[in-house]
Amino acid sequence: MIKEGTLTLSEIRKAALNPVIIYIEGDGIGPEISNVTIKVVDKSVERAYGQSRKITWQDALAGEKAYRLKGDYLPQETIDLIDKYRIAIKGPLATPVGGGIRSINVALRKIFELYSCIRPVRYFSGVPSPLKNPQKVDMVIFRENMEDVYSGIEWKSGSGDALKVIGFLKDEMKVTIDETSGVGIKPISPAKTKQLVRSAIRYAIENKRSSVTLMHKGNIMKFTEGAFRDWGYELAREEFSDVTITEKELREKYSGIAPAGKIIIKDRIADAMFQEIILRPENYDIIAAPNLNGDYISDALAALVGGLGVAPGANIGDNHAIFEATHGTAPDIAGRDIANPSSLILSAEMMLRFLGWKEAADILLSGFSKTIGEGKLTGDLASQIEGAKALGCLEFGNALLNNL
Ligand code: NAI
Repeated sequence: MIKEGTLTLSEIRKAALNPVIIYIEGDGIGPEISNVTIKVVDKSVERAYGQSRKITWQDALAGEKAYRLKGDYLPQETIDLIDKYRIAIKGPLATPVGGGIRSINVALRKIFELYSCIRPVRYFSGVPSPLKNPQKVDMVIFRENMEDVYSGIEWKSGSGDALKVIGFLKDEMKVTIDETSGVGIKPISPAKTKQLVRSAIRYAIENKRSSVTLMHKGNIMKFTEGAFRDWGYELAREEFSDVTITEKELREKYSGIAPAGKIIIKDRIADAMFQEIILRPENYDIIAAPNLNGDYISDALAALVGGLGVAPGANIGDNHAIFEATHGTAPDIAGRDIANPSSLILSAEMMLRFLGWKEAADILLSGFSKTIGEGKLTGDLASQIEGAKALGCLEFGNALLNNL
């Protein structure tokens, strides 16, 4: 959905010195972490550009707060605001219980066709990690956001529809399925695969990354996951042959030494990938994966570098971008000023980089590294380190503000 007369996403990225950013503070710990994040972003921008650039924050309602005030979990005004200004950042939203919208997050992805879920995973010195050399972890996951088993095509065990599908498969396709089964469908298309892999390779080029790995289970699911791998290679060959080489070419033509400026395209079977990120994280850079693999590997990778509390994310399409904390609303600690705001802060850092505001992003990131490096941690991380003192959410925010 694009309204006439508004700037395109790429025009905003190129030109805007004072963009309007929509922010949805979110439920549970959302207001606490959003408050700290906005202060940190504003100060980073001011440090980088003085008064010459400024973000205009526009509050928009979604989630429980929207339901309380407007009787709607995702009001049309919010959809219109995101549509108009293109870029939003959101805290976590509670999944409505009992009817209406299934998930606000999924609804937003669908409405704005945010086909890439992008999650950078890197280590900050001072964060507890189960790895011996966590500093070797520096990857960015591109998870396909629109299809795969997440498209919601499912029939319940014993239902008329499930029996109809099972009957059709038996009569027309000569496939036998236990009649009591629940049945789900896993569509993976060339168009959606290619738009995801295209965005992953473009990101690799823009950010001077060394490889893009296609993560799939193609040895078993040949026409969905295997096709994902094949279409990924095809796209690289068709559109990026000047800047990419395959791992096979690297071995056969370049004796295993990557030529300068080339991005290596490789693929790994999903189960092996879980082993690889732990044993040889230095061999992986950008990971492009179908929806379900991407979901699994995101949490596994986050666990290697401090967990979801420090894992940022964004959902990006051709016309809109929504940056978000990857964790939930943490109702168990809401309102107690002990939440870790890092996930949302680092999502905002991604947003600054996305806008092309590299200087502000660098200031934010180095202030963040310094704060963590000084052992200033919120309770979720401090509790994993013997003798560490936990800071509150605001206290951590103030320590970070002092380091910008
Ligand atoms: P959760 O991520 O909210 O909490 C899991 C555990 O991690 C809790 O113990 C919580 O205290 C802790 N935690 C999470 N974020 C933290 C932070 N920033 N600092 C310190 N500790 C933190 O997951 P849960 O409990 O499964 O879901 C709660 C609600 O959030 C549900 O309504 C769920 O649907 C929603 N949710 C929303 C998401 C989003 O908006 N992107 C993502 C995941 C869940």
